[in-house]
Amino acid sequence: MEEIIPKKISLSGIQPTGIMTLGNYIGAVRNWVKFQDECDCLYMIANLHAITVKQNPAELRKHTLEAFALIIACGIDPQKSVAFIQSQVPEHSELSWVLNCYAQFGEMSRMTQFKDKSRKHADNINVGLFTYPILMASDILLYKSDIVPVGVDQKQHVEIARDIANRFNGIYGDVFTLPEPYIPKDGAKIMSLVDPTKKMSKSDENPNGFIAILEDRDSIIRKIKRSVTDSEAIVAYRENKDGINNLMTIYSVVTGKSYADIEKEFDGKGYGEFKSAVGETVADYLEPVKERFNQLMCDKAYLESLCSQGAEKASRIARKTLSKVYRKVGLA
Ligand code: TYM
Repeated sequence: MEEIIPKKISLSGIQPTGIMTLGNYIGAVRNWVKFQDECDCLYMIANLHAITVKQNPAELRKHTLEAFALIIACGIDPQKSVAFIQSQVPEHSELSWVLNCYAQFGEMSRMTQFKDKSRKHADNINVGLFTYPILMASDILLYKSDIVPVGVDQKQHVEIARDIANRFNGIYGDVFTLPEPYIPKDGAKIMSLVDPTKKMSKSDENPNGFIAILEDRDSIIRKIKRSVTDSEAIVAYRENKDGINNLMTIYSVVTGKSYADIEKEFDGKGYGEFKSAVGETVADYLEPVKERFNQLMCDKAYLESLCSQGAEKASRIARKTLSKVYRKVGLA
Protein backbone atom coordinates (compact mmCIF):
# COMPACT_ATOMS: atom_id res chain seq x y z
CA MET A 1 0.00 0.00 0.00
CA GLU A 2 1.25 3.46 -0.85
CA GLU A 3 2.24 5.48 2.17
CA ILE A 4 0.34 8.73 2.59
CA ILE A 5 2.75 11.46 3.60
CA PRO A 6 0.92 14.19 5.51
CA LYS A 7 1.31 17.66 4.06
CA LYS A 8 3.43 20.15 5.93
CA ILE A 9 1.62 22.91 7.78
CA SER A 10 2.37 26.52 6.91
CA LEU A 11 1.21 29.37 9.14
CA SER A 12 1.90 33.07 9.06
CA GLY A 13 0.36 36.41 9.95
CA ILE A 14 0.35 40.10 9.23
CA GLN A 15 -0.57 43.01 11.47
CA PRO A 16 -3.43 45.25 10.34
CA THR A 17 -1.56 48.43 11.20
CA GLY A 18 -1.72 50.69 8.17
CA ILE A 19 -1.97 49.22 4.72
CA MET A 20 0.09 46.31 3.47
CA THR A 21 3.25 47.37 1.66
CA LEU A 22 5.15 45.97 -1.26
CA GLY A 23 7.68 44.76 1.37
CA ASN A 24 5.02 42.67 3.16
CA TYR A 25 3.90 41.26 -0.15
CA ILE A 26 7.33 40.37 -1.53
CA GLY A 27 8.79 39.19 1.79
CA ALA A 28 5.83 37.19 3.03
CA VAL A 29 2.38 37.13 1.42
CA ARG A 30 3.65 36.09 -2.02
CA ASN A 31 5.10 32.94 -0.41
CA TRP A 32 1.92 32.28 1.55
CA VAL A 33 0.16 32.05 -1.79
CA LYS A 34 2.85 29.76 -3.20
CA PHE A 35 2.59 27.32 -0.27
CA GLN A 36 -1.16 26.86 -0.74
CA ASP A 37 -0.66 24.04 -3.23
CA GLU A 38 1.91 22.06 -1.29
CA CYS A 39 0.96 22.61 2.36
CA ASP A 40 -2.02 22.83 4.67
CA CYS A 41 -2.03 26.57 5.23
CA LEU A 42 -3.33 28.94 7.87
CA TYR A 43 -2.97 32.70 7.50
CA MET A 44 -4.17 35.26 9.95
CA ILE A 45 -4.57 38.95 10.58
CA ALA A 46 -2.66 39.59 13.81
CA ASN A 47 -4.90 42.22 15.39
CA LEU A 48 -3.97 41.19 18.95
CA HIS A 49 -0.37 42.02 18.13
CA ALA A 50 -1.49 45.36 16.72
CA ILE A 51 -2.63 46.72 20.10
CA THR A 52 0.94 46.62 21.44
CA VAL A 53 1.09 50.09 19.92
CA LYS A 54 -1.66 52.69 20.40
CA GLN A 55 -4.58 52.20 18.03
CA ASN A 56 -7.76 54.06 17.25
CA PRO A 57 -10.52 51.45 17.82
CA ALA A 58 -12.63 52.34 14.76
CA GLU A 59 -9.56 52.35 12.54
CA LEU A 60 -8.25 49.08 13.93
CA ARG A 61 -11.63 47.44 13.23
CA LYS A 62 -11.65 48.84 9.68
CA HIS A 63 -8.01 47.98 8.95
CA THR A 64 -8.49 44.43 10.24
CA LEU A 65 -11.27 43.69 7.76
CA GLU A 66 -9.34 45.45 4.99
CA ALA A 67 -6.22 43.42 5.72
CA PHE A 68 -8.32 40.25 5.57
CA ALA A 69 -9.76 41.32 2.20
CA LEU A 70 -6.30 42.22 1.00
CA ILE A 71 -4.72 38.83 1.67
CA ILE A 72 -7.57 37.28 -0.29
CA ALA A 73 -7.07 39.82 -3.08
CA CYS A 74 -3.37 38.83 -3.11
CA GLY A 75 -4.33 35.23 -3.79
CA ILE A 76 -5.10 33.52 -0.47
CA ASP A 77 -7.99 31.25 -1.36
CA PRO A 78 -10.28 30.67 1.65
CA GLN A 79 -11.29 27.31 0.15
CA LYS A 80 -7.67 26.14 0.17
CA SER A 81 -6.30 27.92 3.24
CA VAL A 82 -7.72 28.71 6.63
CA ALA A 83 -7.82 32.51 6.63
CA PHE A 84 -8.87 34.15 9.90
CA ILE A 85 -8.63 37.04 12.31
CA GLN A 86 -6.51 36.29 15.39
CA SER A 87 -8.84 37.82 18.00
CA GLN A 88 -11.73 35.65 16.77
CA VAL A 89 -9.85 32.52 17.92
CA PRO A 90 -9.55 32.85 21.72
CA GLU A 91 -7.13 29.91 21.95
CA HIS A 92 -4.30 32.25 20.89
CA SER A 93 -4.63 34.33 24.05
CA GLU A 94 -5.19 31.25 26.19
CA LEU A 95 -2.06 29.43 25.03
CA SER A 96 -0.12 32.65 25.25
CA TRP A 97 -0.66 32.84 29.01
CA VAL A 98 0.58 29.29 29.51
CA LEU A 99 3.65 29.87 27.34
CA ASN A 100 4.41 33.08 29.26
CA CYS A 101 5.28 30.75 32.10
CA TYR A 102 7.74 28.80 29.93
CA ALA A 103 9.59 31.77 28.44
CA GLN A 104 12.41 33.53 30.22
CA PHE A 105 12.65 37.24 30.92
CA GLY A 106 16.25 37.22 29.69
CA GLU A 107 15.51 35.71 26.30
CA MET A 108 12.63 38.14 25.70
CA SER A 109 14.90 41.06 26.59
CA ARG A 110 17.21 40.06 23.76
CA MET A 111 14.59 40.39 21.02
CA THR A 112 15.79 43.07 18.61
CA GLN A 113 12.28 44.09 17.58
CA PHE A 114 11.40 44.76 21.23
CA LYS A 115 14.47 46.95 21.57
CA ASP A 116 13.66 48.84 18.34
CA LYS A 117 10.00 49.32 19.18
CA SER A 118 10.78 50.44 22.74
CA ARG A 119 12.98 53.13 21.27
CA LYS A 120 10.32 54.15 18.78
CA HIS A 121 7.41 54.14 21.25
CA ALA A 122 9.28 55.35 24.32
CA ASP A 123 6.04 56.70 25.83
CA ASN A 124 4.33 53.31 25.70
CA ILE A 125 6.71 50.45 26.48
CA ASN A 126 3.87 48.20 27.58
CA VAL A 127 4.28 44.61 28.75
CA GLY A 128 2.45 43.38 25.63
CA LEU A 129 5.29 44.73 23.52
CA PHE A 130 7.67 42.67 25.64
CA THR A 131 5.66 39.42 25.51
CA TYR A 132 4.71 39.90 21.84
CA PRO A 133 6.95 36.99 20.70
CA ILE A 134 5.16 34.65 23.12
CA LEU A 135 1.80 35.44 21.52
CA MET A 136 3.45 34.86 18.16
CA ALA A 137 4.83 31.52 19.43
CA SER A 138 1.27 30.61 20.42
CA ASP A 139 0.00 31.47 16.93
CA ILE A 140 2.58 29.14 15.45
CA LEU A 141 2.49 26.27 17.95
CA LEU A 142 -1.30 25.96 18.22
CA TYR A 143 -1.45 24.60 14.67
CA LYS A 144 1.65 22.37 14.78
CA SER A 145 3.13 24.53 12.04
CA ASP A 146 6.19 23.19 10.26
CA ILE A 147 6.93 26.24 8.13
CA VAL A 148 6.48 29.92 8.88
CA PRO A 149 6.93 32.07 5.76
CA VAL A 150 8.14 35.50 6.91
CA GLY A 151 10.50 38.32 6.03
CA VAL A 152 13.90 38.31 7.70
CA ASP A 153 12.81 40.72 10.47
CA GLN A 154 10.59 37.98 11.94
CA LYS A 155 13.22 35.24 11.91
CA GLN A 156 14.25 35.76 15.54
CA HIS A 157 10.62 35.46 16.65
CA VAL A 158 10.19 32.13 14.87
CA GLU A 159 13.41 30.90 16.46
CA ILE A 160 12.19 31.80 19.94
CA ALA A 161 8.92 29.95 19.21
CA ARG A 162 11.05 26.92 18.39
CA ASP A 163 13.05 27.31 21.62
CA ILE A 164 9.88 27.57 23.72
CA ALA A 165 8.40 24.51 21.97
CA ASN A 166 11.56 22.55 22.54
CA ARG A 167 11.66 23.48 26.22
CA PHE A 168 8.00 22.55 26.70
CA ASN A 169 8.44 19.23 24.89
CA GLY A 170 11.49 18.51 27.07
CA ILE A 171 9.27 18.66 30.16
CA TYR A 172 6.00 17.16 28.87
CA GLY A 173 6.87 14.99 25.87
CA ASP A 174 5.99 15.57 22.24
CA VAL A 175 3.33 18.28 22.39
CA PHE A 176 4.53 20.87 19.88
CA THR A 177 6.02 20.62 16.39
CA LEU A 178 9.27 22.55 16.03
CA PRO A 179 8.68 25.26 13.41
CA GLU A 180 11.18 26.51 10.82
CA PRO A 181 11.13 30.01 9.37
CA TYR A 182 10.90 30.18 5.58
CA ILE A 183 12.79 33.26 4.44
CA PRO A 184 12.82 33.90 0.68
CA LYS A 185 16.22 34.06 -1.02
CA ASP A 186 15.26 37.31 -2.74
CA GLY A 187 13.12 39.97 -1.16
CA ALA A 188 13.42 38.91 2.50
CA LYS A 189 14.02 42.57 3.32
CA ILE A 190 12.71 45.18 0.91
CA MET A 191 14.24 48.52 1.80
CA SER A 192 12.79 52.00 2.16
CA LEU A 193 12.75 54.04 -1.04
CA VAL A 194 14.02 57.14 0.78
CA ASP A 195 16.64 55.40 2.91
CA PRO A 196 17.70 52.09 1.37
CA THR A 197 19.65 51.13 4.49
CA LYS A 198 16.33 50.84 6.40
CA LYS A 199 13.50 48.32 6.01
CA MET A 200 10.43 49.39 4.02
CA SER A 201 7.79 49.77 6.71
CA LYS A 202 4.09 50.62 6.69
CA SER A 203 4.60 52.66 9.85
CA ASP A 204 7.24 54.88 8.20
CA GLU A 205 6.39 58.53 8.87
CA ASN A 206 7.59 59.45 5.38
CA PRO A 207 5.07 57.90 2.94
CA ASN A 208 7.63 58.21 0.12
CA GLY A 209 9.59 55.40 1.77
CA PHE A 210 7.00 52.72 1.08
CA ILE A 211 4.63 51.54 -1.61
CA ALA A 212 1.24 50.42 -0.40
CA ILE A 213 -0.32 47.56 -2.30
CA LEU A 214 -3.43 49.68 -2.89
CA GLU A 215 -1.62 52.81 -3.95
CA ASP A 216 -2.63 54.46 -7.21
CA ARG A 217 -0.56 53.95 -10.31
CA ASP A 218 0.86 57.48 -10.62
CA SER A 219 1.94 57.55 -7.02
CA ILE A 220 3.78 54.21 -7.37
CA ILE A 221 5.60 55.40 -10.46
CA ARG A 222 6.45 58.75 -8.88
CA LYS A 223 7.81 57.23 -5.65
CA ILE A 224 10.04 54.81 -7.53
CA LYS A 225 11.25 57.57 -9.83
CA ARG A 226 12.22 59.69 -6.81
CA SER A 227 13.76 56.82 -4.86
CA VAL A 228 17.24 57.33 -3.44
CA THR A 229 20.00 55.61 -5.42
CA ASP A 230 23.68 56.42 -6.11
CA SER A 231 25.38 58.61 -8.67
CA GLU A 232 27.17 55.87 -10.59
CA ALA A 233 24.43 55.47 -13.23
CA ILE A 234 25.16 51.75 -13.74
CA VAL A 235 22.36 49.25 -13.17
CA ALA A 236 24.27 46.48 -11.38
CA TYR A 237 23.68 44.42 -8.25
CA ARG A 238 26.66 44.90 -5.96
CA GLU A 239 27.92 46.30 -2.68
CA ASN A 240 27.35 49.97 -1.83
CA LYS A 241 24.44 50.24 -4.27
CA ASP A 242 21.64 49.70 -1.72
CA GLY A 243 19.05 51.75 -3.61
CA ILE A 244 19.70 50.08 -6.97
CA ASN A 245 19.98 46.63 -5.36
CA ASN A 246 16.58 47.20 -3.78
CA LEU A 247 14.95 48.24 -7.06
CA MET A 248 16.61 45.30 -8.83
CA THR A 249 15.22 42.90 -6.21
CA ILE A 250 11.72 44.34 -6.64
CA TYR A 251 11.99 44.19 -10.43
CA SER A 252 13.41 40.67 -10.34
CA VAL A 253 10.63 39.33 -8.09
CA VAL A 254 7.89 40.99 -10.11
CA THR A 255 9.19 39.97 -13.57
CA GLY A 256 10.95 36.70 -12.71
CA LYS A 257 14.11 38.01 -14.42
CA SER A 258 17.53 37.28 -12.91
CA TYR A 259 19.91 40.05 -11.84
CA ALA A 260 22.17 39.22 -14.82
CA ASP A 261 19.21 39.61 -17.22
CA ILE A 262 18.31 42.95 -15.65
CA GLU A 263 21.90 44.19 -15.89
CA LYS A 264 21.89 43.26 -19.57
CA GLU A 265 18.51 44.84 -20.20
CA PHE A 266 19.65 48.19 -18.81
CA ASP A 267 23.24 48.09 -19.97
CA GLY A 268 24.24 51.58 -21.13
CA LYS A 269 20.90 53.05 -20.03
CA GLY A 270 20.52 55.53 -17.19
CA TYR A 271 18.64 55.24 -13.90
CA GLY A 272 15.72 57.25 -15.31
CA GLU A 273 14.84 54.53 -17.78
CA PHE A 274 15.37 51.77 -15.21
CA LYS A 275 13.22 53.48 -12.59
CA SER A 276 10.42 54.04 -15.10
CA ALA A 277 10.48 50.36 -16.02
CA VAL A 278 10.38 49.30 -12.35
CA GLY A 279 7.55 51.75 -11.58
CA GLU A 280 5.40 50.72 -14.55
CA THR A 281 5.96 47.01 -13.90
CA VAL A 282 5.10 47.25 -10.21
CA ALA A 283 1.99 49.32 -11.00
CA ASP A 284 0.83 46.76 -13.62
CA TYR A 285 1.53 43.93 -11.22
CA LEU A 286 -0.59 45.42 -8.44
CA GLU A 287 -3.51 46.47 -10.64
CA PRO A 288 -5.46 43.15 -10.43
CA VAL A 289 -4.93 42.98 -6.65
CA LYS A 290 -6.50 46.42 -6.30
CA GLU A 291 -9.45 45.38 -8.46
CA ARG A 292 -10.12 42.24 -6.44
CA PHE A 293 -9.80 44.18 -3.19
CA ASN A 294 -12.36 46.77 -4.32
CA GLN A 295 -14.78 44.04 -5.36
CA LEU A 296 -14.41 42.26 -2.02
CA MET A 297 -14.93 45.44 -0.02
CA CYS A 298 -18.29 45.96 -1.79
CA ASP A 299 -19.69 42.96 0.04
CA LYS A 300 -18.80 43.24 3.72
CA ALA A 301 -21.38 40.64 4.76
CA TYR A 302 -19.66 38.06 2.53
CA LEU A 303 -16.23 39.03 3.90
CA GLU A 304 -17.46 38.75 7.47
CA SER A 305 -18.91 35.32 6.74
CA LEU A 306 -15.50 34.25 5.39
CA CYS A 307 -13.90 35.53 8.60
CA SER A 308 -16.23 33.53 10.83
CA GLN A 309 -15.85 30.37 8.75
CA GLY A 310 -12.07 30.73 8.95
CA ALA A 311 -12.14 31.38 12.70
CA GLU A 312 -14.33 28.33 13.27
CA LYS A 313 -11.97 26.05 11.32
CA ALA A 314 -8.92 27.49 13.07
CA SER A 315 -10.51 27.17 16.49
CA ARG A 316 -11.32 23.51 15.93
CA ILE A 317 -7.63 22.74 15.34
CA ALA A 318 -6.34 25.10 18.02
CA ARG A 319 -8.68 23.70 20.68
CA LYS A 320 -7.14 20.24 20.33
CA THR A 321 -3.63 21.53 20.96
CA LEU A 322 -4.76 23.74 23.83
CA SER A 323 -6.64 20.85 25.51
CA LYS A 324 -3.53 18.72 25.30
CA VAL A 325 -1.41 21.51 26.81
CA TYR A 326 -3.91 21.98 29.64
CA ARG A 327 -3.88 18.25 30.40
CA LYS A 328 -0.09 18.05 30.33
CA VAL A 329 0.39 21.05 32.59
CA GLY A 330 -2.30 19.93 35.04
CA LEU A 331 -4.86 22.60 34.29
CA ALA A 332 -7.42 20.06 33.09
P1 TYM B 1 4.28 42.40 10.00
O1 TYM B 1 2.84 42.74 9.98
O2 TYM B 1 5.24 43.43 10.48
O3 TYM B 1 4.76 41.96 8.57
C1 TYM B 1 4.11 40.91 7.85
C2 TYM B 1 5.14 40.12 7.09
O4 TYM B 1 5.83 40.96 6.16
C3 TYM B 1 7.23 40.83 6.33
N1 TYM B 1 7.84 42.13 6.03
C4 TYM B 1 8.78 42.32 5.10
N2 TYM B 1 9.39 41.47 4.27
C5 TYM B 1 10.31 41.99 3.41
N3 TYM B 1 10.64 43.30 3.37
C6 TYM B 1 10.05 44.19 4.19
N4 TYM B 1 10.37 45.48 4.14
C7 TYM B 1 9.07 43.71 5.11
N5 TYM B 1 8.30 44.30 6.06
C8 TYM B 1 7.57 43.32 6.61
C9 TYM B 1 7.41 40.44 7.79
O5 TYM B 1 8.65 39.79 8.00
C10 TYM B 1 6.24 39.52 8.00
O6 TYM B 1 6.54 38.22 7.57
N6 TYM B 1 4.70 39.62 14.15
C11 TYM B 1 4.35 39.59 12.75
C12 TYM B 1 2.95 39.07 12.50
C13 TYM B 1 2.68 37.75 13.11
C14 TYM B 1 3.16 36.49 12.67
C15 TYM B 1 2.61 35.54 13.57
C16 TYM B 1 4.00 36.08 11.64
C17 TYM B 1 1.89 37.54 14.21
N7 TYM B 1 1.85 36.21 14.48
C18 TYM B 1 2.89 34.17 13.45
C19 TYM B 1 4.28 34.72 11.53
C20 TYM B 1 3.73 33.78 12.42
C21 TYM B 1 4.45 40.99 12.18
O7 TYM B 1 4.37 41.94 12.89
O8 TYM B 1 4.53 41.04 10.81
